Amino acid sequence: MNLADSEEMFQHLRARGAQRALTPQEADIILVNTCTVREHAEHRAVSFLGRLAKWKKEKPGRRIIFAGCAAQRLGDALKKEFPFLDMVAGAKSIDAFPSLLDKSGLFPPLQETLAPEQEGLTGYVTIMRGCDFRCSYCIVPYVRGPVKCLPLQHILQETAQKAAQGAKEIMLLGQTVNAYKDGQTSFADLLNRVSEVPGVERVRFMSPHPAYLTPDFLAAVRHNPKIAKHIHLPIQSGSTKVLKEMKRGYTREMLLEKLAALAECQMTVSTDIIVGFPTETEQDFERTLSLVDQAQFFAAYCFKYSPRQGTPAAQMQLLPEAVLEQRLDILLNKVRDLSARAYAAQIGSHQQVLMEEENKGRSSNNFWVKTSKNYKIGSIVDVEIARADGTLLFAKE
Ligand code: 5AD
Ligand code: SF4
Repeated sequence: MNLADSEEMFQHLRARGAQRALTPQEADIILVNTCTVREHAEHRAVSFLGRLAKWKKEKPGRRIIFAGCAAQRLGDALKKEFPFLDMVAGAKSIDAFPSLLDKSGLFPPLQETLAPEQEGLTGYVTIMRGCDFRCSYCIVPYVRGPVKCLPLQHILQETAQKAAQGAKEIMLLGQTVNAYKDGQTSFADLLNRVSEVPGVERVRFMSPHPAYLTPDFLAAVRHNPKIAKHIHLPIQSGSTKVLKEMKRGYTREMLLEKLAALAECQMTVSTDIIVGFPTETEQDFERTLSLVDQAQFFAAYCFKYSPRQGTPAAQMQLLPEAVLEQRLDILLNKVRDLSARAYAAQIGSHQQVLMEEENKGRSSNNFWVKTSKNYKIGSIVDVEIARADGTLLFAKE
């Protein structure tokens, strides 16, 4: 999401004469797009900003923009602490970013004509912003605001433009991407419509919420081969009690049902898990471990709970740091070889590989595959998987 937002903001700067620079030394503008989902991410962003004081002093006219979720949370107070900061553009004001640039008077005005840039193989298309959930640990709804879905026609136009500029794969983005709705158009309809845009070979999406894995979504996945057979589905915990306290809106049993339905559709699943939520007992943690054993995730990103000011969970008594560390360690040990195991399980299967290099690409279910022959970048090749080595599959064609 932040990558796509950075790109969107860059395009507004480009429309005002900026070009991509390869190093900070070459650059006249640095836009720092930030995350605040955990305290650590925000600290890193702010300390990076601190280090830019020297860069700014080196050359008159250099500009620094601090954008995104940490910018939204900390606001203009940042300018007091870092007087050399030129502009704060919080996550909620991304739509207003062009007018913020113009009002600041710090950047050249909008230019008339701008040739589109060549796209990479994957075109990122934001379909919704914000979140209507209120998970008790999460700061996102406060810094990104309520859900706003982009109109279907806008999304189709942007997809067509990206495809015309060379994108073969479209990644639809949103905080709860599968809650998308525009009039009668559901997320499942949108997936189908986007996949029909000329030039689009594959559609991915990130990040869905388990509550919206509806029958019509599963039907779309089953029937439309252009929808990638991989889903990143954050589960957060395997304990119904903790899930309830997190206000996730589902139980362990509901999760298992959804995971079974996804497995039936041949989808690989990766996930996010939080350890050490304030009320998590040893037994709750064991429930998470056992769910990981049952679920056959392709990968799991594991995080220590980080209290975020203003969220309901921040009022709760924290578990000792040593407990968080220990649980994270145990979980990381469990998930360490999930990917290698998932790769090994692909041997003998047939895959369609979208070539990202001449002899390497990604299968629909998100595995890296090396081919024995060379192919045109951007083409899709049917292969059989002969062997696996760590997180790389080898094809026989
Ligand atoms: N502490 C730790 N991890 C968090 N996440 C969101 N909020 C917090 C928090 N307060 C994790 C969730 C989410 C991912 C993007 O970050 O697992 O899916
Ligand atoms: Fe945060 Fe929950 Fe919304 Fe995800 S669904 S962004 S975890 S509030």
